[in-house]
Amino acid sequence: MGALVFLVLFLVGVKDIFQKHHAILRNYPLIGHIRYLLEYVRPEIRQYFIESDEEKLPFSRNQRAMVYARSKLQNDKRGFGTIVALYEPGSQWLCHSNLPQHPQPESFRIFIGGPECTQPYSSSIFNISAMSFGALSPNAIRALNRGASLGRFAHDTGEGSISAYHREFGGDIIWELGSGYFGSRTPEGRFSDDKFVQQVRDPQIKMVEIKLSQGSKPGHGGVLPAAKVSAEIALTRGIPMGQDCVSPASHPEFSTPRELMAFIVRLRHLSQGKPVGFKLCVGQPWEWFAIVKAMLDTGVYPDFIVVDGKEGGTGAAPVEFTDYVGMPLQEGLRLVHNTLVGIGQRDRIRIGASGKIISAFDIVKTLALGADWCNSARGFMFALGCIQSRACHTDFCPTGVATQDLQRQKALVVPDKAQRVKNFHEQTLVCLGELIGAAGLVHPQEVTADYLMVRDNQGKAVSLTSTLVSLKKGELLSKNLGSSLAEPFQSYWHRSSPDSFRLTEESLG
Ligand SMILES: Cc1cc2nc3c(=O)[nH]c(=O)nc-3n(C[C@H](O)[C@H](O)[C@H](O)COP(=O)(O)O)c2cc1C
Ligand code: SF4
Repeated sequence: MGALVFLVLFLVGVKDIFQKHHAILRNYPLIGHIRYLLEYVRPEIRQYFIESDEEKLPFSRNQRAMVYARSKLQNDKRGFGTIVALYEPGSQWLCHSNLPQHPQPESFRIFIGGPECTQPYSSSIFNISAMSFGALSPNAIRALNRGASLGRFAHDTGEGSISAYHREFGGDIIWELGSGYFGSRTPEGRFSDDKFVQQVRDPQIKMVEIKLSQGSKPGHGGVLPAAKVSAEIALTRGIPMGQDCVSPASHPEFSTPRELMAFIVRLRHLSQGKPVGFKLCVGQPWEWFAIVKAMLDTGVYPDFIVVDGKEGGTGAAPVEFTDYVGMPLQEGLRLVHNTLVGIGQRDRIRIGASGKIISAFDIVKTLALGADWCNSARGFMFALGCIQSRACHTDFCPTGVATQDLQRQKALVVPDKAQRVKNFHEQTLVCLGELIGAAGLVHPQEVTADYLMVRDNQGKAVSLTSTLVSLKKGELLSKNLGSSLAEPFQSYWHRSSPDSFRLTEESLG
């Protein structure tokens, strides 16, 4: 036996010396493998033994523990007092009232749908953010949709089309159309009216969301690594197996803001009046202004806009995009909210927001900045059992959430995790009710920046309102826009055009 072990080790050592890919193994045959082993288990060792409770990678142990506790209906309270650094710049708090109220979390809903919309949707103010079948396993999709059905909230399909797993439990669906138009595409990759109509009129589909961009990889288009393109996914999306599934970065159906408005009209018509909107991570401010100018020029308004922050998650994305491209949620949301106020149309268009929103206080902060509702992707992944191993792009997800591997996805038991999804949503809204109740409010729509304080860079506590740019209603419609207009409106509003996403010729000169 000993001789056999020695022989195997000897052969491995010889192979190490002669292989040409790993310099470490050529110099340190056999023992060099210890390095690779340690690299492999480093994330787990770090997570279990080294990471502190507040260290955010990207979600802290405390944040994850809160979701796990809420989704299992366990004790989510904490004893002894806060560990938050209250005197650090950027720390925030809610101002409570001497007249607390008792809001009803079941009433935390809003109607989405402008005047052109004949089938407005009564939406929860907290929903499951877009995550496609492909990025997530069939069982994850089934558990999310069943949870959404049990808790009466919405489940966004992500750009991977509507699969049979989305339909099994009848939970409300927001159908996302990325630039690949999966589920409604022609063989050439254009949008197919016929295929769209075949699905969109189903009552389970409540809204249609055109995906312009996503915070973690704006301007890149969707990527589903070849390892995750199973036969079933290839069939659902209408794509070949064994190749990375990459959606184009831009939509083949429109190349100007005006054409985007025409596409919205087309989808609304084909869906027989369901709410149609778009999701974006704000990039170049003039492109966003150009879209708004197209709204003004055509009289076509989306029913909703979802603003995704750069801090948002992804199934797979190039590192540089995840880290350095796109506007974080706070700035993007504020810009979108302010522009709509500035053109006097804020009441007509609902704004959703996503980007590391996981607790009731995160929801309050986001509503205070101008959102009407919030979406969470990774929060609901934690409810499904995700342990933040950050291997979603590899198909080796240890919890069965983000994998197409048949064996691995069996780990996720649908009825159990569906209940957790429902519980996480419910308990978050219960906590939200307690929070806004403490501030003397009865509905999340009453939350404004006046109810929050923030510590500025000098360490002074100021009201959140005083730190924000706020446009007046209709201010951008004035013929004589003054030089006091805030940035980036001052620089780019008059230099953007409804006919192009680019800065106009005149402005470039
Ligand atoms: C696994 C995974 C898959 C995703 N797939 C999509 C997608 O198909 N379409 C999309 O618009 N966003 C997608 N997203 C982004 C989320 O919808 C959301 O915008 C972002 O993660 C912010 O939410 P979070 O911070 O709550 O995760 C995905 C995110 C994750 C984590
Ligand atoms: S457990 Fe890891 S691989 Fe699975 S979904 Fe969570 S982060 Fe992704």
